[in-house]
Amino acid sequence: MERTFVILKPNAVQRELVGEIIARFERRGIKIIAMKMIMIPREIAETHYREHRGKDFYVDLIDFITSGPSVLMVLESHDAVRIVRYMVGATDPADAHPGSIRGDFATSPGHNMIHASDSPEAAREEIDLFFKPEEIQEYTLAVRPWL
Ligand code: RTP
Ligand code: MG
Repeated sequence: MERTFVILKPNAVQRELVGEIIARFERRGIKIIAMKMIMIPREIAETHYREHRGKDFYVDLIDFITSGPSVLMVLESHDAVRIVRYMVGATDPADAHPGSIRGDFATSPGHNMIHASDSPEAAREEIDLFFKPEEIQEYTLAVRPWL
């Protein structure tokens, strides 16, 4: 099993698409093992997006991700990182396939709805940045005991 980290960005909350997006992960058979709604503090956002510091979209990105409550989740499944990134779709929603989250709900790269970790190493770092160990639940799904 592999873990990945997802942020439903402030526009997902504002557009009342949180349930719709979570339902896609549940239907796919991906297990939610942690979830909370927070206003991401600016300093944490800057750490999370440090690889983009200095790029022209960086300040807008930090302003946006800290502009309202976001929903944070840790998801678990076989190949969780690759499966969730594929469900999320391309960074620019214009390139995201219909059927993907960005391809169905977003139009602008700056407001592309959702973040998902791009590697298992990034997932581990991001989970550590946003969640305390006791906020993560280890449990078996009765209907899918292999998960
Ligand atoms: P994320 O980290 O949010 O999951 O997105 P990603 O891997 O698909 O894309 P990344 O290159 O890591 O970019 C991080 C976020 O920065 C914003 N962005 N805006 N040209 C632009 O205006 C632009 N490029 C990137 C997006 O919100 C992207 O999710
Ligand atoms: Mg990224």
